[in-house]
Amino acid sequence: MKWDDQKASALIDSVHAEVAAFLGPDGTTASALLPILQALQANFGYIDTNILPQIAERLNISKAEVHGALSFYHDFRSQPGARHKLKICRAEACQSMGCEDLVDYLAQHHGLIADESSALGHLQIENVYCLGNCGLAPAALFDERPMGRVDRQKIDALVQQTREILS
Ligand code: FES
Repeated sequence: MKWDDQKASALIDSVHAEVAAFLGPDGTTASALLPILQALQANFGYIDTNILPQIAERLNISKAEVHGALSFYHDFRSQPGARHKLKICRAEACQSMGCEDLVDYLAQHHGLIADESSALGHLQIENVYCLGNCGLAPAALFDERPMGRVDRQKIDALVQQTREILS
């Protein structure tokens, strides 16, 4: 969904109210920060930094604290990104089962470079280090769905599928 300031404000209010209902009004100050950021990201796919002062004011915390949370957690994005995300495990067990070949294949065959922050379009590749799925190495997560024994054929099918969804 495209960023919309009014919807973002409404979302901040509604998440803040939910947390207040759960913790009481005094408990919302910092406790609501991550749920608000998560809700914005889930709704818009990223968090427009222009909204950060409003969040700080709502929670009565500094803008630096809000900025700090946004930059500390790797999953938050401050710019629109690709519609789908493929996290590829590059830790030891997956390395021994060929994950590096998959990363090279994605770059050379599909032009998809891991951790390229400006990735726009259909699929963004992200490096991760152990998904707890070592028994099915090389492992990956596609939009939070676990994948095991990933090979070039599965990669091709996934890239094709995400391109079709976009077109
Ligand atoms: S090392 Fe890749 S899932 Fe554990």
